[in-house]
Amino acid sequence: MPADLFFCGECGYESHKWLGRCPGCEAWNSFVAQPAPRRKGPVVVPRGAAPVPITDAAAALEERVLTGIEGVDRVLGGGLVRGSLILLAGEPGVGKSTLLLQVAAALAGSQAPAVYVSGEESAQQVALRARRLGVAAPHLLLLPETSTEAVLGHLEGTAPSVVVVDSVQTMVAEGVEAVAGSPTQVRQVAARFQQLAKTRGVPVVLVGHVTKDGMIAGPKLLEHLVDVVLSFEGEPGHDVRLLRAGKNRFGTVAELALFAMTDDGLEQVRNPSAWLLEDRQVGAPGSVVAVAIEGTAPLLVEVQALVSPSPLGTPRRVADGFDNARLALLLAVLERRAGVRFGDRDVFVNIVGGLTLREPALDLAVAAALLSSATDRPLAGDLVVFGEIGLLGEVRAVSRTAERAREAAALGFSRVATAARDGGAALALPALPLARVDDVLSLLEPEGGDPTA
Ligand code: TYD
Ligand code: MG
Repeated sequence: MPADLFFCGECGYESHKWLGRCPGCEAWNSFVAQPAPRRKGPVVVPRGAAPVPITDAAAALEERVLTGIEGVDRVLGGGLVRGSLILLAGEPGVGKSTLLLQVAAALAGSQAPAVYVSGEESAQQVALRARRLGVAAPHLLLLPETSTEAVLGHLEGTAPSVVVVDSVQTMVAEGVEAVAGSPTQVRQVAARFQQLAKTRGVPVVLVGHVTKDGMIAGPKLLEHLVDVVLSFEGEPGHDVRLLRAGKNRFGTVAELALFAMTDDGLEQVRNPSAWLLEDRQVGAPGSVVAVAIEGTAPLLVEVQALVSPSPLGTPRRVADGFDNARLALLLAVLERRAGVRFGDRDVFVNIVGGLTLREPALDLAVAAALLSSATDRPLAGDLVVFGEIGLLGEVRAVSRTAERAREAAALGFSRVATAARDGGAALALPALPLARVDDVLSLLEPEGGDPTA
């Protein structure tokens, strides 16, 4: 009899003995014991697919099903590819079931129904939610089931437009001796649904819960198996939800869609810039509007900084939505090149709205917010800021300047502060050219007032 195995619940790392810390993903206390799978019955040799000419092989990728929810289609790279296996990962309560119920309803047609397999909730519960969302459609079929084989049996001979499995952690693959949600089960269940997707040409969407404690197998286990990993993110206390692709065999991973969780389900935010700037306090020191490029579109966001005297020997540097190492670098550059001291002050930076942005173009806005807060002098309210900052304190031009300026103009801003090289007639707005990071000081209004506010 094979010995028991231990698995990391986060990443699936296998070991013959229990480990306190996973060598694979460095999670603590994530190992769960599990009986080794015991094979029963004869081995079945799969027939497999026949080789195809490379010139024909790409055709399947062109076959996409549009969900009609613009943000979902765009993040997928132009709709769901037939025969693909997609993982939608997110923390419990973020809205995965809600989103997929809306997607399934949109795809449910008389020719091809949509099938929503629910291992978590009863058909009544799902139906009630669908009614509340106003998406109860006769061709949206609910299948409350936790047995993968039972689901596959029900789908025998049918060709649904989409199959949603909510969630992969509640399903079991028959013949696999492990509890639902364990790494072995999750992998087996996913492999069987992958088979369904590939042989039947149906897009299959698996819901995967991400949890902080390691008892449930994390979606990391499935990343290599599935074609697309979508993540659905949101901050507690914020309505904003972000859909993005962490992996996409059929498109880019650059796209991003914003949704708002409302009483009537998820609504796509059509004008993210306006929505993100809604609560901005114009003329407050430490507040700067930046233009980032998220996905393929320019996005206006408010960057906030707070610089205050620190009671601690080692002052705090806390960045929310911005890279901590990048913040440290910018503080060092500002100390050396702009002569502002941060050594004895706590520094907090926040990208408002719950977004995390990694673009270097945000450097200048973060620097401006830091200087504004440190000096208690606001920036003019009609100004947007973007540019990269180099180690020598130089302000560097970033890509797609014209598009950024256009978005700022569309939202009612009237001036752009950016790298000197980019200031010029080509922009939709007049530019304030900055060559060096200390030029940012020239953007600050006198203490206590912003005449344009
Ligand atoms: P849900 O889709 O069940 O999340 P998940 O499947 O990721 O666990 O959504 C959970 C939360 O969303 C729940 O707290 C209630 C809220 N919600 C709304 O605000 N509006 C709605 O229309 C719905 C259906 C849910
Ligand atoms: Mg759910």
